[in-house]
This record gives sequence, structure tokens and C-alpha cells, in this order.
Amino acid sequence: MPRLVRNNLAVYDDLADRWWDPRGPFAGLGWLAASRAEQIRPAANGSSVLVDIACGGGLLQPYAAGKGYVHIGVDLSPRSLQVARSHGVRAIRADMNQLPLADECAEVVVAGECLEHVPDPYQVVAECCRILKPGGVLIVDTAANTVLARVLGITLLENAPCPGTPPRGTHDHRLFVDRRRLIRTCARHGVTMRLTGLRPRLLDLLLFLLRRRLAVKLVPMAWTGLLFQGVGTKADTRLLPGP
Ligand SMILES: C[S@@+](CC[C@H](N)C(=O)[O-])C[C@H]1O[C@@H](n2cnc3c(N)ncnc32)[C@H](O)[C@@H]1O
Repeated sequence: MPRLVRNNLAVYDDLADRWWDPRGPFAGLGWLAASRAEQIRPAANGSSVLVDIACGGGLLQPYAAGKGYVHIGVDLSPRSLQVARSHGVRAIRADMNQLPLADECAEVVVAGECLEHVPDPYQVVAECCRILKPGGVLIVDTAANTVLARVLGITLLENAPCPGTPPRGTHDHRLFVDRRRLIRTCARHGVTMRLTGLRPRLLDLLLFLLRRRLAVKLVPMAWTGLLFQGVGTKADTRLLPGP
């Protein structure tokens, strides 16, 4: 039997027509997009920029739309970028490790479910901090590098015969993120980050599995060892008192 390729990024091109299927392989990403958007405050003005790192098919767009930002998406998957564009995201093809964007160009940077797909997520986080304006907000969500995250997030989820589960091979536990190092990296780049655990609301999940509901609300929990969200603000040194 051929060996399963892990962190198989080809799935995002191969399954690009399923991005918006509420019972398809990316259903959970839609739930996460809704949760991520709760952390985005309304734009200060019409030229405020939100950069959506590894935007995929642009699932954040309907939630961000009402907040008034210019929504710029970055991804490597050409077919996903096409889908994102068709949903109104200004999508550009680029590697999140090296963003072709100016320093301090964005009021909001979101990096949803992408840090666990690169060998050096801390480099990506440094890039996110670099393009963030002072006073701007960085929002991330990803998987923690724990045994339980590996068992539940890969062994169970990727093999479960249920709707909404990611394809086999999507994840590689060796890329899951060290929470302390994430916080330290942010701090080194001027962003104070706080983490919260996320879990599905159980009744919603049950109704989703019974085909009685399409969306599942994710709710916060104190434990961050599985799926977690981080929200941080970049220090605005212009506001510090002078000597
Ligand atoms: C799990 S999806 C998340 C998509 C989106 N953020 C969401 O939550 O709906 C991961 C995305 O990361 C993209 N990706 C993986 N490696 C990348 C890289 N080095 N640079 C840019 N995008 C990348 C993939 O193409 C895919 O769209």
C-alpha cells in the first residue's frame, strides 16, 4: 500500500470546488472563520486593511464583509485563490513565510488554520507581526503540539466516517504548534498574545452529525491543548510617554 503523504497541500487545489460546501471536507474551517471574525473589530475607515494569511477559499469573507476592511488574502493554492476572488477577496499568490506586503500595512492580520502547515510557523508569525500596524490586532487559530491533538485531530478526525472531516493526510502532527514559543515569538515582535481553547458546542455538533444543522458554533474553553485561538495587539510605541 502506498505511504500516506502527510501535510498534503495538494488537497486544497484538488478539492477547491468543495471550499464552501457546508458538509464537505472544509466545513470545520467555516465554523472557525465565524469564531475568528468575532475577534475583528469594525474598521476605522474604508482604507483599513485586513490581511487573511493562507485565505484558502475565502471562508472568512462573509463574516469580515460587514466590518468595512479591504480584505486581502494570501495563499499558494491557485484554485483556492480563484474561489476566494469569486467571493470578493483581493487574493494574491504568495508564500506566507515571506509576505510580499509592506511593513505595518495592516490594521488586522488573521492566520487561521495555517500555522500547522509549515515547518517554521514562528517565521510566519514574525511576518504577521511585521505587516501589522502599531495598535493593530493579530488573530491566529491552530492546533497545539500535544498527544491529544494528534489523536483527536488526526487519528480520529481524519478517519471518522462523518461529514465535515478533513481528508486523510491533511495534517502532520510534527508541525503542530508550541504555544509558549508562539507567545514568545509574538512578544519579541511587539505583540502581546493571549490564547484561548476552542471546542464545538456539543448540541450543535450532535445536530450537525444528525444532519439537522449546518453550522456548529465554537465556544471558548480555558484548556488550549487541542485547538486554540490567539489574539494579540501590537504595541503602539507612539503612545508611550516620552523621556
Ligand atoms: C487549512 S487551510 C486554511 C484556509 C483558511 N485560512 C481557512 O481557515 O479557511 C490551509 C491553507 O494554507 C495554504 N497554505 C499552505 N502553505 C502555505 C504557504 N506556505 N503559503 C501560503 N499559503 C499556504 C493552503 O493552500 C490552504 O489554503
